[in-house]
Amino acid sequence: MLLESSCAPAIRLAPGDVKTVGRATIADIAVDEPSLSRLHARVRVDAGGAVTIEDLGSTNGVFVNGTKRAVAAVRAGDTVRLGALEYRAAADEGTAVEALLSTSREIMACGDLQALLDRVLDRLKAILTPDRSAILLIDRATGTLRPRSVRPAGAYGTVSEFASSTAVRESLASCEVLVVDDASADARLRDAVSVMQAGVRSTLCVPLMGRAGAIGALYADRTELREPFAPEQIEYASAFAAQAAAALETAQLYDDREQHFRLTLETLAKAIDARDRYTAGHSERVTAYTLVLARTMKLPDADLDVLRRAGMLHDIGKVGVPDAVLLKAGPLDAAQRLIIEAHVTIGFEMLRGLPFVQDALPSIRGHHERWDGRGYPDKRAGDGIHLHARIMAVADSFDAMTSARPYRNALPLDEAARRLRANAGTQFDATVVQAFDQAEAELRSMVQS
Ligand SMILES: [Fe+2]
Repeated sequence: MLLESSCAPAIRLAPGDVKTVGRATIADIAVDEPSLSRLHARVRVDAGGAVTIEDLGSTNGVFVNGTKRAVAAVRAGDTVRLGALEYRAAADEGTAVEALLSTSREIMACGDLQALLDRVLDRLKAILTPDRSAILLIDRATGTLRPRSVRPAGAYGTVSEFASSTAVRESLASCEVLVVDDASADARLRDAVSVMQAGVRSTLCVPLMGRAGAIGALYADRTELREPFAPEQIEYASAFAAQAAAALETAQLYDDREQHFRLTLETLAKAIDARDRYTAGHSERVTAYTLVLARTMKLPDADLDVLRRAGMLHDIGKVGVPDAVLLKAGPLDAAQRLIIEAHVTIGFEMLRGLPFVQDALPSIRGHHERWDGRGYPDKRAGDGIHLHARIMAVADSFDAMTSARPYRNALPLDEAARRLRANAGTQFDATVVQAFDQAEAELRSMVQS
């Protein structure tokens, strides 16, 4: 639907849209018109395209065809007045295409595969209002079809736990949309455990076609209490699947490339650990300690993900440090110290151009900074050092102290813990050392194992 006005831009409405209209800039449709309240009204379009408007407690009211209304349906031909602003509702043939385009722009801009899967499913939900829905993708390594995003959320390992695998496979094999209005009367679905247990009545399965064939399927169903999917919803879902498939295939390739790339970097990091038998396993241990500290500090999962990668790569710059320095048995002289210290900037320079590891850069560069500003390479101090780097500094020192070196044995755990505490507020961030105190038993057990 289109709401047209002679004194404001037209408002285009697509199925699933919910938009606020008002004078405030936070309104979805902000109109600079003094008779409007800051948030004047909300317009809602259901999956079938029916439009309702709701007054959000405005001063000058919402009028549909001249009558003041708190909530009202809006149909083509109606006039809608918000304050002094008058709109005329018209059918908009371009709406579905427009919505599809904006969805496709939105999903194309999303590089992270899991986020993309979730977003596609959310858009599908707005179009189809299913009781359950899922995106199933074919694992290219094994050829098996797996649920990758599921609503309502749940852990499903196989397709048959969620949907009828026969129906999904049939749809994929024929590359055609499969619609079943009455599952109990359809041999493909009747006996599926998932379908029986969930009380499913109608199902819709749309293959996701990539360049070289099917890459997966969109699946949606409704229980016995609901109407089957309407023809225009099925049509819309099919058009949407074509857009989603292109975006998903691109994101999947990107994701594969990113994963291979990370593995390569981690292999390289392990190779560095392996150059020196005294530091073998250092990157893995530092990663493990860092994660314990970060969890104790209640950092969100997104930070843990970053730290997991950053931990594995933190010393990658040692690839540029000659064996004569890296493997030297005994204390280093000033020149050698400078060479080994360069590993943080070498690592940073190696990785700075790579989009996948941008978020790991602060801790790769900063894990030898000190709270008092006497560290390297940038002599940052206090909060000026990235939190990830401050956490990693404690984990790194703990591992260095509790591992043997050619010229000294590993320090006893009590002594390592004492030194960390003694240096809280000078070398280390005291809040990170506090986390160490809290998680000390766990960290100690990790050293001993
Ligand atoms: Fe280091």
